[in-house]
This record gives sequence, C-alpha cells and structure tokens, in this order.
Amino acid sequence: MPDRSGVPFPSYRGNFLALRNWRQSSWLLLGRDATSKCIRGVAFIVVPRNYFDSQAIQGDVGMKIAARGANFIVAFLKSYGPSNLKRYFWDREFAGTKWDFIDRTEGDCVYENLEKYANNGSILDLGCGPGNTANELSTDAYQKYIGVDISEEALGKARRRTVETGRGNRNFFVRHDFVNYTPEQEFDVILFRESMYHVPIGKIKETLNHYIKYLKTDGVFIIRIATSDAEHAGANKPRPMAMVQLMEREFDVVEKRRYEHVSRPMILVLRPKPLT
Ligand SMILES: C[S@@+](CC[C@H](N)C(=O)[O-])C[C@H]1O[C@@H](n2cnc3c(N)ncnc32)[C@H](O)[C@@H]1O
Repeated sequence: MPDRSGVPFPSYRGNFLALRNWRQSSWLLLGRDATSKCIRGVAFIVVPRNYFDSQAIQGDVGMKIAARGANFIVAFLKSYGPSNLKRYFWDREFAGTKWDFIDRTEGDCVYENLEKYANNGSILDLGCGPGNTANELSTDAYQKYIGVDISEEALGKARRRTVETGRGNRNFFVRHDFVNYTPEQEFDVILFRESMYHVPIGKIKETLNHYIKYLKTDGVFIIRIATSDAEHAGANKPRPMAMVQLMEREFDVVEKRRYEHVSRPMILVLRPKPLT
C-alpha cells in the first residue's frame, strides 16, 4: 500500500476543508466563507484511485485542485441551481468583499450606450447588482429605472446609494430571479450588464424571448459581457464568446463593439428579428 500519511485528513487550506479517503478515491469539500467562516458550499469529487498514489495530488497541489473543483460547483449552482440556492450564494458573496470592486464604476463603457438608446425614457436592468448603473448613469439619460437582482444584499447597497444620490423618485428595485421575472411595463432598454453569464447558455434564447414583449416598439436589449480577463491575457474566454455568437444568430445586431479594457467587454445592442 502506498504511504498516504502526508495527506491531512481533514485539512483546511484557506477557505476549504477537504475530507478525503472515502474508499480511497474521493474528496468531500466544504467551502467556507472568508469572513464569517460559515460553510457556504459542498462539493463531492471522485478521482481515479491511482491518482491519489502520486505525490502531485498531495498537500497544497491537492488543495488547489480541490479549491478549483469547489469553485466550479458554486459557479455552476449560481447559474443552474434553484432560485433559493442562487440567492444564498449571491447573498454570501455580496455580504463579503468579493464584489466591492463593482461598487463604483463611473466612466464604464456601458454608459455611453445606455445614454444613446434610453431616449430619456425607461430602463430595466436585469442583475443590477449594488446600484452602480442606477446611480452613475447621467440623470439626463432616463426617467425611470427598475433594477432586478436575486441578492437582497446587493439590493440593500443599491437602495442605500439611491438615497445618497437623491434618485429615489426614479430608481426602483425588485428582488427576483430574472429567469422568470414579469415586468409591469415596457422599456426603452432592457440591460444585462455582466449578468448574462449567469443565464444557462441553453436558456438565453428563451430568456430574451420572454422579455421581448416588454420592449417598446423601438426598444433594444443591451448586453455587456466581459470576453477576457487578466488570467486569459486578452485571449477570448470560450463561454462568453459562445453566448455572443448565439445572441448574434438569434437577434438583429444594431451595434457590436469590443472595448480595450483588460476584460475586453463586448457591448451588443440587439433587436428582435422582424417576423417573417
Ligand atoms: C457580476 S454581477 C454584475 C452586477 C452589475 N450589473 C454590474 O455589471 O456591475 C452579476 C449580478 O447578477 C445577479 N444575478 C445573478 N443571477 C441572477 C438571477 N438568476 N436573477 C437575478 N439576478 C441575478 C447577481 O446577484 C449580481 O448582482
């Protein structure tokens, strides 16, 4: 029998607790929140038996693989899980510091596009986050803004910032899963700003089709989607690129532009194809 004594059982590395050894071929991973230390995700990974015999899987390398596995599962559940689980994971993240970097995004490329298409009218922002769009967009660009988000933590930030900016008469927020939200009016712009990524790719067409009836006659969808990141050093990330291609196929593209920020955000302005 190989000596596995070097592999701790259980062991903590950062925010992951790995319980290994069930039939020598699997790891149960418990991911914990960095600040509260509460368990926030569970993953079960089966690895071929002889994999454990290699030194490479042991110690920190093993933990990195475990961490990646757990991250992958949380990301999967945030897009494909039931609404209450999605809400749980998003709330935990917004309660911590993970998303603090989107609190202030003045000057973002999305604003010039919103200002062009909002017609000083109405905007529906699906996956609105902490209220950056609602409070950074020029007040000359719109009269009414509705932000929808699954996370009450994010919406709390959005509402507080709206009070600070004095926009309470035009910014409104609703907690809902955008996959099945039913608006009560039509909009000049329906926006998915860095939130389309969380719609299962097989549901993008269905989700946009659901919202078509809430676009005004000349209304448009605006999609902002990051297509790279520092890890990819400017190279395309496959999943967002596949999403872009799918939307281009299914809708009329009014505008498409890729910006030279490190995340290479793509802006797509879409209209429904005319009925034939
Ligand atoms: C990456 S953040 C983007 C926030 C903001 N739009 C921005 O670009 O700064 C994604 C947002 O989408 C929200 N979200 C993810 N899945 C959702 C869903 N199914 N329904 C509603 N909101 C969702 C998250 O809570 C989060 O606020």
